[in-house]
Amino acid sequence: MNSIIIINGPNLNLLGRREPEIYGKVSFEEYLNELELRFPNLPLIYHQSNHEGAIIDWLHEYGFSPHGIILNAGALTHTSIAIADAIKAITTPVAEVHLSDLSKRESFRQKNYLTDCCVFSVQGMGLEGYAIAVDYFLAFTQGKSRVDYTAD
Ligand code: DQA
Repeated sequence: MNSIIIINGPNLNLLGRREPEIYGKVSFEEYLNELELRFPNLPLIYHQSNHEGAIIDWLHEYGFSPHGIILNAGALTHTSIAIADAIKAITTPVAEVHLSDLSKRESFRQKNYLTDCCVFSVQGMGLEGYAIAVDYFLAFTQGKSRVDYTAD
């Protein structure tokens, strides 16, 4: 595992300010500083976009490299067959993170086009889910066997 690529989707640039009762009061940039201190020997490359195509372009760019990709596609999780196809098209493993526990939320969040294409899924752990996904990649760099990690 050379590097971890973190890709965040729509509205996740507003973490810390956006619905803090659901997503918390810490911005992703603040949390990323903490992650870098926790994993000093592992380069973390961070991208965020509110645009589906940009996310697909990054999946293609990093998707044939010896990295691990952590993806929180935000609401696109529930709508995007195109992102699901991109994850299936690439060889780099993708771990899915959601701050909230989707199973306890609205019915429209129960549809998830991405989870079956990912090697790992963590939800309901807040920002800590990203560290759990990094740990997954550090521990299970062989193969694409799937693991699910939920709060309960
Ligand atoms: C989210 C959950 C999505 O349903 C929502 O649209 C988001 C954030 C999460 O991290 O809990 O934008 O992906």
